[in-house]
Amino acid sequence: MISKKMTKALSLQLNREFYSAYLYLSMSAYCNHIDFNGAANWFKMQYEEEHMHATKIYNYLTEQGVHVNLEQIDKPPRKFGTILEIFQQSLDHEKFMTKNLNNLSDKALKVKDHATYNLLQWFVNEQVEEEASVEEIISKIKLVKNSGYGLLMVDNELAQRAAPEAKL
Ligand code: FEO
Repeated sequence: MISKKMTKALSLQLNREFYSAYLYLSMSAYCNHIDFNGAANWFKMQYEEEHMHATKIYNYLTEQGVHVNLEQIDKPPRKFGTILEIFQQSLDHEKFMTKNLNNLSDKALKVKDHATYNLLQWFVNEQVEEEASVEEIISKIKLVKNSGYGLLMVDNELAQRAAPEAKL
């Protein structure tokens, strides 16, 4: 059975994952608004990914017999600047999530909660992938600088991102 302290900490992470989903959906809406439809698709897929992360934590807590407490989700920003700035904000957010997940992992180890630690390792590994993919997009946007054709190519590539596989 999971401890009250660990439940509280994981519930906070559950809220952060829902906020991430919300943030990425808002980024998608903004990209649509500024006519970067490929980037809008990319962020919409990211929204789905984050929704799955939240569901994964929810499922775990439920399996542990917890009556899950859902907190209010903060309102995300609505404007994000240039296409480069949007992805930079996405990277900053993912770094923040990585930091939280590392702290949570430390907490789980400290109280010898190996089941929760295992769950968190899945998330920690996922973060490596997430940060790397955003970094790659940032490099490409920097590479093409402000060339309209270059940005169109990057946007076309972002349009290819398919719906994530369920990882629940
Ligand atoms: Fe679920 Fe991108 O953090």
